[in-house]
Amino acid sequence: MCGIVGYVGKSDATPALLTGLARLEYRGYDSAGISVLANEKISTLKRAGKLSVLVDALREHPLPQGRVGIGHTRWATHGSPVDRNAHPHMDPDDQIAIIHNGIIENYQLLKSELERAGHYFISDTDSEVVAHLLGIEYKASGDLTTSMQRVCQRLHGNFSLVAIATSSPDVLVGARRNSPLVVGLGHGENFLASDVAAFISFTKRALEIGQNQVVTLTSQSHLITDFAGVVQSAREFEVTWDAGAAEKNGFPHFMAKEIMEQPKSLADCLLGRLDEREHLMLNEIRLSDDEIRDIEKVIIIGCGSAFHAGMIAKYGIEHWSRLPVEVELASEFRYRDPIITRSTLVIAISQSGETMDTLMALRHARDQRAKVISICNTHGASIPRESDGVIYTQAGPEIAVASTKAFLTQIVAAYLVGLYIAQVRGLKFIDEVRDILDELGELPEKIERYLETSERLKELALEFKSAQSILFLGRHVGFPVALEGALKLKELAYMHAEGFAAGELKHGPIALIEEGTPVLVIMPSPNSPLHDKMVSNVQEIEARGARAIIIAAESDSSITSLRAIRIPDSSVLFQPILAVLPLQLFAYESALVRGYDVDQPRNLAKSVTVE
Ligand code: F6R
Repeated sequence: MCGIVGYVGKSDATPALLTGLARLEYRGYDSAGISVLANEKISTLKRAGKLSVLVDALREHPLPQGRVGIGHTRWATHGSPVDRNAHPHMDPDDQIAIIHNGIIENYQLLKSELERAGHYFISDTDSEVVAHLLGIEYKASGDLTTSMQRVCQRLHGNFSLVAIATSSPDVLVGARRNSPLVVGLGHGENFLASDVAAFISFTKRALEIGQNQVVTLTSQSHLITDFAGVVQSAREFEVTWDAGAAEKNGFPHFMAKEIMEQPKSLADCLLGRLDEREHLMLNEIRLSDDEIRDIEKVIIIGCGSAFHAGMIAKYGIEHWSRLPVEVELASEFRYRDPIITRSTLVIAISQSGETMDTLMALRHARDQRAKVISICNTHGASIPRESDGVIYTQAGPEIAVASTKAFLTQIVAAYLVGLYIAQVRGLKFIDEVRDILDELGELPEKIERYLETSERLKELALEFKSAQSILFLGRHVGFPVALEGALKLKELAYMHAEGFAAGELKHGPIALIEEGTPVLVIMPSPNSPLHDKMVSNVQEIEARGARAIIIAAESDSSITSLRAIRIPDSSVLFQPILAVLPLQLFAYESALVRGYDVDQPRNLAKSVTVE
């Protein structure tokens, strides 16, 4: 879950590396460092803390200008976030510098072997072992590519690695297994990075590096091999968004920008989904009509917000396709021996496309011969690459750690799958599908309308700034929304928050309510049979002293409380897409009033590439 970037080219490496690291900081931000190769010497500067600490240190201690370099932003797994554990790491002779993202599972064994041979380690990391092994191989072969191939054969676990060596000027060598690594192809300069965002200001041409491959880059060339040295081909692709999409564009935080982008993201997600006969078209899922007719069960897997999106999607997919849908945390899925057959459709939902738990669950499903499609926001990431088909959510880059626009588009993309299955299986007439799509098409305008009037949430955040605990209540599709609201508040404002299915209140959670407990209630649409039951639930909690804030449809005249937060009217299944907006804003404003870093909350990272 670290960000890695390498540069080889015609200019000074440091500015390019810092630009890349700024874009990758979402992947980890507890320490950062860079190494530059100049005059056959590697110079390194690394600091615990955010990238800004490194930038300040570089002002005081600038590195020599060099045209090859590597940079790293860390999310600690092995060893606390202190200077000596920050990357890059060197071999004992200062010949090699490496950066690493992932976990070397057999590092203890390798470390003991090296220690027995007299090696001394400066850091507590698993990564330093790789630097030492590369140093040994490099001394023997004098070739960085061969050394990388040999070392990778000894490593267990997940890694993307990039190395430079003093006697190989103009060369960057990278490798990957189960961790992301992409090449950026510029003019007279090339890049290696965890994510295209790192080099998007320099080039939009990119190359995918496959599993168990090593890449050797010079300023003019690239060569890809497997770990045995056999040359491999690679797919080139063009990045479809530009650097501006990864900038804040005048917003104080990425999260604020991404919340406000939701109308456009949702509209983009719906773009191009109709064929010339105006039938819903989802060719990207690459399932034939016969395969779709053969589906007997759907299983949705994901983590965190993606899991909540799956929980919401279940209601739509079951309703339209009449197929049973199970939703499972990806981290639990493969450990319970799930019942999967060739007739099972597994849908993996992931913004980053790199979440290790989801990737492992997906592989398990494929091993059992299930059909696997993914819903993903990141082109060319591991999860879509390993799926039979993929629907890209088209939300644009999501940089803030907390998922907002990706979450919304995940729900919509999964709904599209449900509608498509219903269309193919003849359960919905074409005009019925179109009516539903038309209603989906109205959502961007409704979201925009709500976001224009969202000032209230700031006041609410101030009012509840010091609350001990905040509860969220929902029913039916509103239940996962309650879970999502609580997750957002926990991760951003570090407040204790719980989401409950309101029907469960009397089975335990109501004991938590005391005088003044804030409870955010997602009131079902007035046309839902659950509406009146929720009104009773509100009376029950208010009778026990709760301060209920009700999120209700504009036309819901049964809610008279002045404290109600009004969202545009919608049908039952689309309400979550609107009801989650105030909860996103509430978490955002709560983090701000409590003085926390909204885009980079503590202990978290955007892309969780370890299990
Ligand atoms: C919460 C959040 C996380 C992610 C989860 C899965 O705001 O962002 O819970 O949803 O880590 O990440 P992806 O979607 O990249 O697999």
